[in-house]
Amino acid sequence: MVQLRLPQESRITKGKVFNKPNTKTDTTRTLFVYRYNPDDKANPRLDTFYIDTQNCGPMVLDALNLIKDDIDPSLAFRKSCREGVCGSCAMNIDGTNTLACLKPLHEIKGPINIYPLPHMPVVKDLVPDLTHTYKQYAAIKPYIHNEGSAPAGHEQLQTHTEREKLDGLWECILCFCCSTSCPSYWWNGDEYLGPAVLLNAYRWVADSRDHAKQERLEDLDDAFKLYRCHTILNCTNTCPKGLNPAKAIANLKQEIEKG
Ligand code: SF4
Ligand code: SF4
Ligand code: FES
Repeated sequence: MVQLRLPQESRITKGKVFNKPNTKTDTTRTLFVYRYNPDDKANPRLDTFYIDTQNCGPMVLDALNLIKDDIDPSLAFRKSCREGVCGSCAMNIDGTNTLACLKPLHEIKGPINIYPLPHMPVVKDLVPDLTHTYKQYAAIKPYIHNEGSAPAGHEQLQTHTEREKLDGLWECILCFCCSTSCPSYWWNGDEYLGPAVLLNAYRWVADSRDHAKQERLEDLDDAFKLYRCHTILNCTNTCPKGLNPAKAIANLKQEIEKG
């Protein structure tokens, strides 16, 4: 029988409350933050933090930094660039996978719910374990194959039209917001490559300088690796960089059909 509830040990319990003010002002915000520490041998919990947004920058990542710096240094989350280019701070904010550094606090009305990217094992708090996803990324050989064909001592040039084919693909920052919003990836992620990896697979298939197109397509022509995509479009709707992984997947299928 299908199990609809989370297993007992994964159910989220009521957490601690930090910094509750005696009186709330217009700049007081409440954050509900998922906490999990494997060392505690306890269920995950949802902690409540009260912050004054006068003390931090405008983004959700600024609020998390404030919590870590001033309230609870044990809170774990990834971050690096704080401007939407490294992909580290991907998490589920207010029900949507996005980048904490690009999500303004003022866009969220009421308490702010923050969880790790869904359907991934959790290392600690808001840090998902991306080991499997990165193995899948490595499996598509995400680098150029043009052995022996590059002109010695010169750049390998592309026409403007050839270069334009990479637009909408090279911008991917591997945040995995898309893959972790994809129902097919939730249920078949052990074999289905998911939208982030498939968009990157297409990035190399579409590159005029790459000579492994046929080999790449043959490898992807698989009921699970590629054809588990059912064009539900969650991936495209959630991408914080405005990319369209579903279209890249459709393009891969078309390329395979062309033979
Ligand atoms: S379009 Fe494909 S990859 Fe995107 S969410 Fe749907 S099933 Fe997943
Ligand atoms: S396609 Fe978009 S959501 Fe998916 S990994 Fe790349 S940047 Fe992130
Ligand atoms: S910190 Fe780099 S994308 Fe958010």
